[in-house]
Amino acid sequence: GAPVEVNVSKIEPGQLIRAEWRGKPVYVIRRTDAIIEELAGHEDQLRDPESQEPQQPDYATNRHRSIKPEFMVALGVCTHLGCAPTYHKGDFEEKVEGTKNGFFCPCHGSKFDMAGRVFQGVPAPLNLVVPEHSFPTADTLLIG
Ligand code: FES
Repeated sequence: GAPVEVNVSKIEPGQLIRAEWRGKPVYVIRRTDAIIEELAGHEDQLRDPESQEPQQPDYATNRHRSIKPEFMVALGVCTHLGCAPTYHKGDFEEKVEGTKNGFFCPCHGSKFDMAGRVFQGVPAPLNLVVPEHSFPTADTLLIG
């Protein structure tokens, strides 16, 4: 499939936009500083905090799992059975104590942080998939 271009300049801090690549939904989020800081706070509760599982780009093997800490780019596809995880902005503490933002899969309750990293004790086995992507210009994200 052809790469998909997304203009990221209009994404507000904390906002999620959906793109589509190869028939799959891609979540693109402009993380706030608070969201980025939160990533360090719950790593003992994650299954694979350093993203050591294979089959992902090298630039996804850091804490924020992205090229630019500001932007999260991940498939909106739960790694359990493929449902779409729901973005919880500011009200995730009812799912994970002490973490304000994250993703909750409505199908069987898997939980992911704002880098798409899966929490322990849920059915999803892996972190959300980071598709190949690049930033040809400061405002342009190219997926694929
Ligand atoms: Fe997401 Fe089962 S499909 S938890």
